[in-house]
Amino acid sequence: MIKHWVIVGASGGIGLALVKTLLAQGHHVSAISRQEAHTSIANMPDGALSWYKLSSAEQPEAANIFSAIFATEVDAVILCQGWLHGGGMLPEKNLRQLSRAALTQSLEINLINPSLYLQCMLPFLQKQAGVKVALLSAKVGSITDNQLGGWYSYRMAKAALNMLVKCASIELARVNKTASLISLHPGTTATELSAPFQKNVPSGQLQTATDTALRLINVMNTLTQEQTGCLINWDGHKLPY
Ligand SMILES: NC(=O)c1ccc[n+]([C@@H]2O[C@H](COP(=O)([O-])OP(=O)(O)OC[C@H]3O[C@@H](n4cnc5c(N)ncnc54)[C@H](OP(=O)(O)O)[C@@H]3O)[C@@H](O)[C@H]2O)c1
Repeated sequence: MIKHWVIVGASGGIGLALVKTLLAQGHHVSAISRQEAHTSIANMPDGALSWYKLSSAEQPEAANIFSAIFATEVDAVILCQGWLHGGGMLPEKNLRQLSRAALTQSLEINLINPSLYLQCMLPFLQKQAGVKVALLSAKVGSITDNQLGGWYSYRMAKAALNMLVKCASIELARVNKTASLISLHPGTTATELSAPFQKNVPSGQLQTATDTALRLINVMNTLTQEQTGCLINWDGHKLPY
């Protein structure tokens, strides 16, 4: 069955792999990104891909873009934004390394940006029967799971993102009992985000972006309403917050 998917942050490693994989499976994709559509998907058959260039949900055109997207029933939405390093900043090994710059950047991209997208979409999600929504989070954002410490800014931002999902899932369920909203851990994936740390990943545990896309699509397809508000692993199992 052909479905309509919305991918936000569609130019990132996992975002673009999701777009390509969904198109290859014959689905209709509405993609939002700060970038132009990647050349590899620029010439898709008519109607398969709608690409919207948008720098943030705070732009005045955002509401019109979502009106256009949700004019066709939406089955699933995945928000893929995230940041771990860049601009000379690396994840902190200890509290001494924490800086206002890295903390601000991490909160901006991992938390504030997806929060405002979710806010912008909420009126539309309230009316979509059976809609499934995932915000890409990270297992390292789980407070219960944290045995190693470090990576302060990223862990803090993802833990806060998980709280956003919990709160918004409760609000959404009040008006749309058929919707599901989750935090989703994609697993360690070979992208720009993980590039500096890939040598530390045990053999066989680093996934390609395409493998991750296939796994995440499977999680979304099998998601149940009982999982709403939870942090879900790439294999569909619930992780502790
Ligand atoms: N790769 C991993 O091993 C791994 C592991 C656990 C969790 N995750 C999570 O999975 C998600 C996708 O990660 P990825 O590996 O695909 O990372 P990536 O290749 O670095 O992609 C980065 C993503 O963040 C967006 N982004 C980057 N800078 C931004 C900015 N200044 N403002 C707004 N958006 C910005 C990009 O959107 P545009 O399309 O707009 O450029 C893109 O979707 C993230 O939430 C990440 O935390 C990844």
